Amino acid sequence: MLMKTIIKINFLTVFLLAFNVLAGNVTSHKTINFVIVGDTHSTGNIPAIVTGNVPAIVKRINKLDPQPAFVMFIGDIAGADSDPNAYKDMVAFEKLCKNLRAPHYYTLGNHEAIKVSLKRCSWQQIFKVYNLKERWYSFDVGDFHICVLDGFIGMNSKGYGSNAGKAMPVLDPSNIPTSLFKRQQEWFLTDIKSTNKKVIIFIHQAIGFYQHDNQYWIDIANWKFWPPGNFFEKTFEANRDKIVGVFEGHKHHALWKKRNGVVYHQIGASFGQSGGQFAQVFIDPCLETFYVQAHPHATHHNKKFRVQQSYGDPAIMKNFQKKKGINNEN
Ligand SMILES: [Fe+2]
Repeated sequence: MLMKTIIKINFLTVFLLAFNVLAGNVTSHKTINFVIVGDTHSTGNIPAIVTGNVPAIVKRINKLDPQPAFVMFIGDIAGADSDPNAYKDMVAFEKLCKNLRAPHYYTLGNHEAIKVSLKRCSWQQIFKVYNLKERWYSFDVGDFHICVLDGFIGMNSKGYGSNAGKAMPVLDPSNIPTSLFKRQQEWFLTDIKSTNKKVIIFIHQAIGFYQHDNQYWIDIANWKFWPPGNFFEKTFEANRDKIVGVFEGHKHHALWKKRNGVVYHQIGASFGQSGGQFAQVFIDPCLETFYVQAHPHATHHNKKFRVQQSYGDPAIMKNFQKKKGINNEN
């Protein structure tokens, strides 16, 4: 009797699985949904940012239904460079983010490194507050492999941040350092080779764009920062069949482009007048299509403004929500 029941249950499982595959449901269920929060630059020096944008961001992310698989803060997170209370700002920031319902992660930006070089805090403090073991790391979510890279590392060799406060050095391959960067390169090459899943990259620096992509970019020209042919660009292109998106911050403006087979996204900054905007991303691993939903929703493409835009194929999000029984857009 028991054996008959087991056979019946197994038959039912196979039947339902086959039905779902034929109906296209399996593909939809594998779609990933995550949130990226662009440069927050949260600091106690400007109380409105700590008490305004970050709590608002947390509150609005927590209202998303369905919830994102994770939330990524993509660098230049908390504490102004000149702020002697940078460590306290970081702790306050993380305390707020602990209220997120979804797990959250951090990508390191240049302003994390600069604070160390100005002795506002130590690397140990940054690692402890943001729960990092290393400046780069990876993890798996469903059918995806998430790689988080340190894009500022090439800017500084021994001190890692030792050039902060001075003019930024021109990077050329012969100037790109040394042990830390080499260690990251070796790790990344091994890590991306070892996975069979689709890969999503997070890196603070704008690897995928050139200065002429937007005349309103902040900071120095990208080609000086990471010249064409740099390690990251070459490795992304060599793995274009696996990589379904490279997400970047730093430039504070939203933009995307496909270059040499790799799709790069610039995420708008979430500090100050942005009012705490963020991007919700949906990627279908089978179709390799995506949709970026801006919160608040905006579709205008004036490059002058720092507004996060919604773009891509909205059917990816709608199908995902439909399968989860959600009818409203958040
Ligand atoms: Fe930055």
